[in-house]
Amino acid sequence: MKVSVSILTLDFANVEKNFVPIAKDVDYIHMDIMDAEFVPNISFGYSVVASLRKLTDKPFDTHLMMMHPQRYIKEFVEAGSQYITFHVEADCDVLETIKLIKSYGIGAGISIKPKTTVEEIEKYLPYVDMVLVMSVEPGFGGQKFMTSAIDKVKYLSELKKNNNYNYLINIDGGINGNTAPLIAPYVDLAVSGSYICNADNPKERIEILKKM
Ligand code: DX5
Ligand code: ZN
Repeated sequence: MKVSVSILTLDFANVEKNFVPIAKDVDYIHMDIMDAEFVPNISFGYSVVASLRKLTDKPFDTHLMMMHPQRYIKEFVEAGSQYITFHVEADCDVLETIKLIKSYGIGAGISIKPKTTVEEIEKYLPYVDMVLVMSVEPGFGGQKFMTSAIDKVKYLSELKKNNNYNYLINIDGGINGNTAPLIAPYVDLAVSGSYICNADNPKERIEILKKM
């Protein structure tokens, strides 16, 4: 399983010390972007993403928890994203937004909140490069993993195999050493935030997840 670290709970006061070593050990960096409308929280914007771009070559897996993601795609592409994922529950035309992201030559992802089913996004699956299943309600790091996400990633892996689809299966929320074994057989990568960033030895935890 590949690991995408969510840096939401990272202490940005010393990025050289706190971010660079973690970036070296993971496969992707997960950028959680919140607009205080789609979710009841604010995180950081494209200028922070662009600054971090100077510190690592790892691919940025940008997760837009925004009501109007289509308005900000260009900025997050220019900030250095390799994948941009938005929510199908947002106020946008899903296919148009996928097309817009792909027009910049990067990967397009769609994400579903815990109450949204895989059936609701089946029609988009032939066109996306990533599907991000939320295993917590989006908005905050450090929440408890919801087991209802397991069947969703399992079903997505069956659909992928049966239809020869190309998307990466990703999961986000509450992933740690205990919950990762439940989803590892079905996902290509998993997002992990507080388990890695709040640890005394992040490297050790990244290795635990990568071995799954
Ligand atoms: C939740 C974010 C997640 C989250 C992951 O809104 O999308 O990426 O911060 O953090 P943990 O692993 O702590 O649940
Ligand atoms: Zn996220």
